[in-house]
Amino acid sequence: MKGLILSGGKGTRLRPFTYTGAKQLVPVANKPVLFYAIEDLVEAGITDIGIVVGDTAEQVMGAVGDGSRFGAKITYIRQEQPLGIAHGVKISEPFLQKEPFVLFLGDNLLCDGILPLVEKFRHGGMHSLILLTQVKNPQNFGIAECYDGRVVRLVEKPREPKSDLAVVGIYLFDHHVFEAINNIQPSARGELEITETIQYLIDRGFAVKAHHLTGHWTDTGKMDDILEANRWLLETLEEKIEGTVDSHSSIYGKLILEPGAEIVNSVIRGPVAIAQGTKIVNSFIGPYTSIYYDCLIANSEVEHSIVMENCRIMDIEHRIGDSLVGRSVEVTKSPAKPKTYRLVLGDHSKVEVL
Ligand code: DAU
Repeated sequence: MKGLILSGGKGTRLRPFTYTGAKQLVPVANKPVLFYAIEDLVEAGITDIGIVVGDTAEQVMGAVGDGSRFGAKITYIRQEQPLGIAHGVKISEPFLQKEPFVLFLGDNLLCDGILPLVEKFRHGGMHSLILLTQVKNPQNFGIAECYDGRVVRLVEKPREPKSDLAVVGIYLFDHHVFEAINNIQPSARGELEITETIQYLIDRGFAVKAHHLTGHWTDTGKMDDILEANRWLLETLEEKIEGTVDSHSSIYGKLILEPGAEIVNSVIRGPVAIAQGTKIVNSFIGPYTSIYYDCLIANSEVEHSIVMENCRIMDIEHRIGDSLVGRSVEVTKSPAKPKTYRLVLGDHSKVEVL
């Protein structure tokens, strides 16, 4: 079996982060989302993996490389324009050939891995296996309508959803999927939809089975969902303290402290992950916070947040919470009078002040 990860697309819902970076490289629990997909595939014994890349190809290729460090062989497939998930699959036919494959959307995160699903597909005599899970906001997903335990209809982001069962962005297919893609037309938004592709298979009597997911799953396309994924991933990680903690600091709960990270005269209340080269000085880091590499947090308090690499947060009086802080961001106290908020913010930034 092969793996196909889609890591192109527009990422408009995650602006401003996606102006400068691939949404699939946003770190969750201090690891880019995309890496979890690669690891899930490798864990399921799938090492021949294609990654569809778009505008952010260079970054994705720079981060993932040839895949050897994951124990995988990566083939990059260029998608000139984001013409749909099914389009991404279509242009990957020369890579996939006739082999069955797992299609993994590069911004999807799954808690329990995909091994049981791959086994189920391998032995289940089916043309496609899709995963369904209950969601609170069905308007934002492909939605499945079931009858008698079978999926009868899939609708992409329906305005008036008839069910709350979302199609998860991880699918298993055999080569009949290409027949389906070659017979569907672009949707109103100009994309070849994966939901319509699967609908074609259902309508022509191909065996499409559904697996109901019970564990955690998140589509990290939006900021709240990223923080949510960060929360549950931090819950599942094991404590590992490889950096240094001085004798004036207190650690409560779980801490993942990478080598070269330093905690000085601070209080950490886990679960918290702090990556290499990051220094926490005279500060409080509260639950569900991930701070990526080479940051400095001094005389400040941060909780329930993700801070990306190379940031400096210094001398902030009030606690920073529920925040996603991009790469190389500085948040510091204004040094002089008049007391002013001095902001240098990119397009679509969001600031909430006290
Ligand atoms: O996350 C599950 C949902 O994913 C499903 O419920 C929907 O049925 C499915 O259409 C998809 O919806 P999204 O709106 O979340 O898809 P998005 O445009 O965010 O693309 C998903 C991934 O695929 C993302 O990593 C970008 C990549 N992609 C997307 C398109 C449209 C590509 O690589 N090329 C593309 O042309």
